[in-house]
Amino acid sequence: MSFDIVELIVAKRDGAALPDDAIAWLLGNYPGGAVADEQMAALLMAIVFRGLDPRELRTWTDAMIASGTRLDLRGLSRPTVDKHSTGGVGDKISLILAPLVAACGAAVPQLSGRGLGYTGGTLDKLEAIPGWRSTLEDDQIRRQLEEVGAVVCAAGGSLAPVDRALYALRDVTGTVESIPLIASSIMSKKIAEGTQALVLDVKVGRGAFMESPQRARALAATMVALGESHGVRTRAQLSAMDRPLGRAIGNALEVAESIDVLRGGGPADVRELTLALARLMLEAVGIDVDPVTRLDDGSAYETFVALVRAQGGDPDAALPVAAHHARVRATRPGVVAAIDARAIGVAAWRAGAGRARKEDPVSPGAGLRLLVERGQPVAVGDELLEVRADDVTHLERATAAAADAVRIDEVVAPELALLLDRVEGAAH
Ligand code: URA
Repeated sequence: MSFDIVELIVAKRDGAALPDDAIAWLLGNYPGGAVADEQMAALLMAIVFRGLDPRELRTWTDAMIASGTRLDLRGLSRPTVDKHSTGGVGDKISLILAPLVAACGAAVPQLSGRGLGYTGGTLDKLEAIPGWRSTLEDDQIRRQLEEVGAVVCAAGGSLAPVDRALYALRDVTGTVESIPLIASSIMSKKIAEGTQALVLDVKVGRGAFMESPQRARALAATMVALGESHGVRTRAQLSAMDRPLGRAIGNALEVAESIDVLRGGGPADVRELTLALARLMLEAVGIDVDPVTRLDDGSAYETFVALVRAQGGDPDAALPVAAHHARVRATRPGVVAAIDARAIGVAAWRAGAGRARKEDPVSPGAGLRLLVERGQPVAVGDELLEVRADDVTHLERATAAAADAVRIDEVVAPELALLLDRVEGAAH
């Protein structure tokens, strides 16, 4: 069957719902070129304004899944549960959470992505560990899940491949910020990954996709409903991203901070969010273990070491350190009123920790270290931030971008609670 693409664009533009067979045809024919980029871009823009109703969204997601293969994780001796974060600054939670939840008895298939723009990516972070590789074959994934309990690897090109083409088009046509498009993009990959259960960490605030709690809640509810309707037990935790998570931002710096948490220390916010997500994941697969015990008895760290070794990494090797360092200092006295997640993320990106285009390399040692906490009194000249880069020009640009990231004032500014709402499926 064939459709008139212009009629479909006009129908969506005018607010009509698209029939199921038209959606399947559109997404099935886009990769081959029968639907041109400019037509798909126009349709995506119409969706940004008009949305997709629940039936259309389900069909759209099914068509994205059907564009590739599904990983078969059935038959493992442990239940499978994954976590996905909508992305933020200093968000190294996956590095800690995957081995922690594995140490509690679940299997965690973390098929992850790379950073783009100012938000970091889990694979870029782990690649700071000498020798660690992100690409695994399907049978290696299954074996490692059975033996170690956790895998963090690149989502192969065969999972929902039409998403890659659509995402690249959305990125250059101003059509990323749409709840149904984000929800179908994230959930098609997670459903194709074959996990039984999924916990979504939906970030809220200036450093996140969704700046308002209302939009974040709507995105969470949409993704939870999609997961549940595809047989994946799905729940979401909304969490703050108005300031960075932890004190380290940048690939190797975040690995080091994650290891601190895995050894029972590290910043309180990173530990608190990790434990909250771990509890949700364990509850979703019916494992009654308190994850604190696995952080404190060293077994989460041992599982991390096993995961790194299984993927070719040397957990004892020194992490890379960038060649050049600079400090940002206070130019007035007062208290640390706020630390702006987006400004910190942009500064780390400029230092070389992130990439502007998908093909760009990242600098593993580049990034920022926060040297103060919100509420701390400071005098003129006190050190607020350390900036690290491999290239002096990057160091200068990053230091300039970081200059106002730590706001000094007379009073402390309000901030979001770290843990906001939870969203569960209708069945709970
Ligand atoms: N992450 C994705 O994978 N897709 C989106 O659309 C947004 C974030």
